[in-house]
Amino acid sequence: MSSEDTFTIAIDGPAGSGKGTIAKELSKILNYHYLDSGAIYRVIALAIHNKKLEFNQEKKIVELLKEIEISFEFDKTFLDGKDVSSEIREESISKLASKIAQNQELRKSLLSFQRSFAKKPGLVAEGRDMTTVVFPGADLKIYLDASVEERSKRRHKQLILKGNNVNIANLVTEIALRDKQDKERVHSPLVIDDEAHIINNDGLSVEETINKILALIN
Ligand code: DC
Repeated sequence: MSSEDTFTIAIDGPAGSGKGTIAKELSKILNYHYLDSGAIYRVIALAIHNKKLEFNQEKKIVELLKEIEISFEFDKTFLDGKDVSSEIREESISKLASKIAQNQELRKSLLSFQRSFAKKPGLVAEGRDMTTVVFPGADLKIYLDASVEERSKRRHKQLILKGNNVNIANLVTEIALRDKQDKERVHSPLVIDDEAHIINNDGLSVEETINKILALIN
């Protein structure tokens, strides 16, 4: 075990691979703690937006971390005690989160906060550097993957449900481009850890994907 009595499961993967849904469901089934690391970058982006800072004011952003309080209740996110779960999903905040996630000082400052979620009986942590940087000693590492086409179909469905009809071919191009950027970026690129079990969930339901992970635990 990564630390006495605490079982840590780290899940990485590209955007749209379903890692959020899978990690959340898995933590419920196992009765483990849950960490959505992307929500941390998102809530910091919201705080930066509220304080009218610019994404490249690296030092000020790290300073800001000492002034704000980020907390979670399962999949709900709080900034200074206020529930900001939907605000952090807005497009402008997503874009800002993606920019500040490239700030190395910030990433370093967040390590111990993220690691503090590893508590008894266990943790399911999700996000792009969970297997490689934040929990390199995780007991189980999963790289959840799905083809660009499958991920585009899922995104298309989500957008239709929200009332936005977009061309699926455009989504394929967009997602392929985002993958390229994610893999080629200088800081914390999306890489597959040597110890990670790769699960491609094309055509698999959430339940089937979870069963594959449970089989690995057993
Ligand atoms: O997974 P998400 O879309 O909620 O993540 C929000 C942003 O934060 C996204 O640009 C990826 C980035 N991120 C990161 O750099 N490292 C993580 N461990 C999690 C998310």
